[in-house]
Amino acid sequence: MAFLDDISSLKQQALTALQAAGDLPSLEAAKGAWIGPHGQFTALMKQMGALSKEEKPAAGKALNAAKTELETFLTNRRAELELKAARPSEPTDFTLPGRRRPVGRLHPLTQTTEDIVRAFRKIGFAVADGPEIEDEYHCFDALNTPADHPARDAQDTFYVAQPGADQSSRATEHAPRTTSLLRTHTSSVQIRVMEKQPPPIRIIVPGRVYRRDNADATHNPTFHQIEGLYVDQGVTVSDLKGTVEFVFKELMGSDVKIRFRPHYFSYTEPSYEIDFTNALVKKLGKDWLEIAGCGMVNPVVFEQVGYDPEVWTGWAFGFGIERIAMLRYGINDIRLFYENDVRFLRQF
Ligand code: DAH
Repeated sequence: MAFLDDISSLKQQALTALQAAGDLPSLEAAKGAWIGPHGQFTALMKQMGALSKEEKPAAGKALNAAKTELETFLTNRRAELELKAARPSEPTDFTLPGRRRPVGRLHPLTQTTEDIVRAFRKIGFAVADGPEIEDEYHCFDALNTPADHPARDAQDTFYVAQPGADQSSRATEHAPRTTSLLRTHTSSVQIRVMEKQPPPIRIIVPGRVYRRDNADATHNPTFHQIEGLYVDQGVTVSDLKGTVEFVFKELMGSDVKIRFRPHYFSYTEPSYEIDFTNALVKKLGKDWLEIAGCGMVNPVVFEQVGYDPEVWTGWAFGFGIERIAMLRYGINDIRLFYENDVRFLRQF
């Protein structure tokens, strides 16, 4: 039958056209030309009406089968072309190195602290820790700091309000052990460690400390210190001096010079301030830079923690970490450490 031949031939042409479409727009165009409302295959379906009664069943069946075949083909071809459109136009080279994510780095204060700790570890010191919220006993009394000492004034120290407590008389009266404050120095940890363990002691204590200061280029109400404590028999000032010199040379290079100047701290006797110099200090136009406090542990402190001062001797020191980091990296404003501006932090 001629009509059946027409179906078969038009279906073949439509399939060829759909297959030939290389992208989605040409596929839609081919669909329009063949099986859309005005398509050639659709036109053939409309001719069914002109067929005789006998011809109709076979023609109808063939038309439906061809139509289903074309629609299935169209759906598959569309899926193929959609996939093709979604693929990257350039081939992927899986041998290329990956894109690196930016990796952060340690804060300059952390780097400095770690370097100081590393230097002390080489000579057998261990890191100890203590609370930042302290009581007056550990921060002051046990360190032989009298109740009327200016460091204990509410102007200088952050006291932590206690519910129901009268805060007004603190600076003059002998302070109760239970009054809480933000530690003003890491020296409080000396007491905590000695209370807990018998001598000998060889510790360093890096940590955050708090003082009521207005922030400026060289001060900040929160800053960092590192405390050292060495207790054994027959310890002398020359042990202290040798240790400090070793650590500063490790940190800042072999051209470092150290100078001890007499000073007063209630928890050491004798006490010194440590001045430091090297090429960096000279570049700042200075001869010496004050860097730490230190001294031989006052026997009164040993008595407080139950060590026999006739048997045990020791030294202690406290450095400001910011000061050392500023010097190392040539930083001229302490506040830069705390602003966390990545343009600053990226440089270290
Ligand atoms: N605590 C002192 C300060 O904050 C530093 C210091 C001085 C620590 C002498 C010591 C020391 O251990 O013996 O300024």
